[in-house]
Amino acid sequence: DLAGKLAGARVLMTAGPTLEDIDPVRYVGNRSSGKMGFALAAAAVAAGAEVTLVAGPVQLATPAGVRRLDVRSALEMHQAVFRELPGQDIYIGAAAVADYRPAEPMNCKRKKSGDEWQLRLTLNPDILADVAARDDRPFVVGFAAETNDVEKHARDKLQRKRLDMIAANQVGLPHCGFESCDNALSVFWPGGGEDIGLGDKQTVARRLLQLIAEQWSAR
Ligand code: PMT
Repeated sequence: DLAGKLAGARVLMTAGPTLEDIDPVRYVGNRSSGKMGFALAAAAVAAGAEVTLVAGPVQLATPAGVRRLDVRSALEMHQAVFRELPGQDIYIGAAAVADYRPAEPMNCKRKKSGDEWQLRLTLNPDILADVAARDDRPFVVGFAAETNDVEKHARDKLQRKRLDMIAANQVGLPHCGFESCDNALSVFWPGGGEDIGLGDKQTVARRLLQLIAEQWSAR
């Protein structure tokens, strides 16, 4: 039961993909439906939190009680997060942020020509790491999408990015993770961890939110 677990807390979250425009008709981006992040936002509201959700382009209805800000690119998401950050108690980065964006976005559609097209990409800011690097940071929860050595990579990210908690999508399970309705997570925090078994994203989100509330109030 989530009721009251985050009463009065302010939670800032991201969800969905970011899309990085190449020209007015093309983009590069990450896979993400936003379902996991939107389920977490709904769970945070059920726990009594005041929730701001910065969402990349997704086809989902806003959960009741959630304040939603729509963005498209990683740079826009970074800007929105830092505008909303002051006064937040908890930050949860569930978005699949594109690590790179086109170095020279074009204002006009690029004409098809030749057999090859070499696209130059440039690094996007790491929103999660930038939030965690602040002195007046909230409790910071990251996600990890790894394909191998999940615990090692997740614990490494936890330390390197100075996170309070990381939720790694379990790999190798069918119908899980990106775009599907179900997920399974391995959650790690300094000195502990828990596997959240396969379930629909609403159920998984509620358990993750319980763990976040426990670790946040123990901090
Ligand atoms: O949206 P769904 O279809 O429901 O799928 C859910 C999900 C699989 C997208 C979600 O559970 C998830 O794992 N989201 C993070 C995916 C990801 O991009 O992981 P990563 O290992 O690339 O990034 C690690 C963390 O850093 C994430 O918290 C990410 O939000 C953050 N990050 C990454 C790059 C960047 N430039 N800025 C960031 O803040």
